[in-house]
Amino acid sequence: MAGHPYDGKRAVVVGGTHGIGLAIAERLVQGGARVVVTGRNPDNVREAAGLLGPNATAVVSDVANSADIQALGDQVRDSLQTIDALFSNVGVAEFEPIDQVSEASWDRQFAVNAKGAFFTAQRLIPLVAAGGGIVFTTVTAATASPAMGVYNATKAAVRAFAHTMAAELVGQNIRVNTLAPGFIDTPTLGVAGATAAERAELHQVGDAVTPMKRHGTPAEVAEAALFLALHATFTTGTELQVDGGISGIESP
Ligand SMILES: NC(=O)c1ccc[n+]([C@@H]2O[C@H](COP(=O)([O-])OP(=O)(O)OC[C@H]3O[C@@H](n4cnc5c(N)ncnc54)[C@H](OP(=O)(O)O)[C@@H]3O)[C@@H](O)[C@H]2O)c1
Repeated sequence: MAGHPYDGKRAVVVGGTHGIGLAIAERLVQGGARVVVTGRNPDNVREAAGLLGPNATAVVSDVANSADIQALGDQVRDSLQTIDALFSNVGVAEFEPIDQVSEASWDRQFAVNAKGAFFTAQRLIPLVAAGGGIVFTTVTAATASPAMGVYNATKAAVRAFAHTMAAELVGQNIRVNTLAPGFIDTPTLGVAGATAAERAELHQVGDAVTPMKRHGTPAEVAEAALFLALHATFTTGTELQVDGGISGIESP
């Protein structure tokens, strides 16, 4: 069954309605898995449901809302019973130099990326089967890009609590790792509120500073995510850089 490597597998992709998360869900469904994907925007959830087909359940669920997190746990239990792979891929970013950061933008980013990712995982971990894998999406370790200080801080928090979860769950035979993308060509480039001009500039900068001189594709990140969650059976508590070399080598 080489064409269906994930037959019988059950997976949840939190933040799975477009970009990297959707690519993870597509790969899982193509491989025979049953998947629950979530997103906050109902139109995007509907669109993802249509794209992914009958082996996927798409759920409107805001990770910044604790009632939604509780309900999501019930929905996942009802539709999948247990989980083999949990992808916590949700993330939002706002461009702001330090002197323009507001309490509101700090709270918005931490509410989704750090608090939301943490409490969603806390709710879903009891459903993760022994032998299962959890993958949090962070950001490349080369994170000194200007105007992304709060976002980078949220991802540092994710890295920290994810690796603590790895220590707490190793006795249950559940692995927890983080996946750190560099510049990836998603519809939002990871910065949903950016203007078209900001996005064009970000794209140019990304290609210039990445040693491979290009953006990664969502499919390339999805392959790495699936590797960590389902194939890397002797790997836990670590981070995989999927960043075209930006954190590891000098750009030529
Ligand atoms: N693209 C990059 O270059 C890049 C680089 C480094 C790291 N990352 C990280 O990689 C991950 C995916 O990035 P991406 O570019 O693929 O992002 P994306 O296309 O904007 O997708 C983010 C996903 O999260 C969902 N989401 C956003 N806010 C949510 C909330 N409050 N509750 C539930 N779901 C929510 C989005 O759904 P709706 O918007 O429809 O609600 C969507 O499904 C993020 O964690 C991002 O920080 C991306």
